[in-house]
Amino acid sequence: MNWNADLYDQKHAFVYQFGENVVELLDVKPGERIHDVGCGTGYLTQQIKNQGADVIGTDYSPEMIAQAQKLFPEIKFAVADAGDFHFDEPFDAVFSNAALHWVKNQDGMMQSVYNSLKTGGRFVAEMGGKGNVQKLIAATKAILEKYGYHERATISQWYFPSLGEYASRLESHGFRVVFASHFDRKTPLQDGDQGVSKWIEMFGSVYFEGIPDNDKKHMLAEITEILRPDYEENGQWYADYKRLRFIAVRE
Ligand code: BEZ
Repeated sequence: MNWNADLYDQKHAFVYQFGENVVELLDVKPGERIHDVGCGTGYLTQQIKNQGADVIGTDYSPEMIAQAQKLFPEIKFAVADAGDFHFDEPFDAVFSNAALHWVKNQDGMMQSVYNSLKTGGRFVAEMGGKGNVQKLIAATKAILEKYGYHERATISQWYFPSLGEYASRLESHGFRVVFASHFDRKTPLQDGDQGVSKWIEMFGSVYFEGIPDNDKKHMLAEITEILRPDYEENGQWYADYKRLRFIAVRE
């Protein structure tokens, strides 16, 4: 998927604003060596650096890394595959916010994180958990079906695990899960009743690739109407996010 890094920064700032709480959970100690996996445009990488860490941010998207490097030239960034990476020098902590649900090779990612940590090092992350944007996905699939795009309605591009499933998976890679939480986070969307369309255009474009613009416009409007009763409150729109947070330690 190609990312529009400018649109991401302008309209989806909530991704890293909520992520600031995850940086608190990371609890940086000055001088620690930290890897921010799926760093996007680098806003949280910078927060981590500001707390005195020696940090590197990586992302699968060259567009995101180019933007991050432009915004924060003093920080190290690199394009890397979260599902398969290697560093010669180990880290005190690996951090990730709102990225792991995109990773196809979860086992490769967990093993790469584990291998890259010092003994006693921690993996601190937040991602979409079971049920995340469930209403939005259901509405999108219903409309794809209605317009005859049956194959696209079967696309499943994100992995939103339950707490039990993910904790077990981390354990199977050798981690000790010392904290985990699965919780609702009603997440504000920008631009009023355009917010659902904008969110889908930013993150769910795979569902609409190759669909004529006119069809797409009608479909997005219908998806928005399906979601209105659940998503709209006095003109403000909210998405049904569910988060999974954890701290897992390499012992
Ligand atoms: C999330 O942070 O939950 C999310 C972001 C983009 C697409 C899907 C989920």
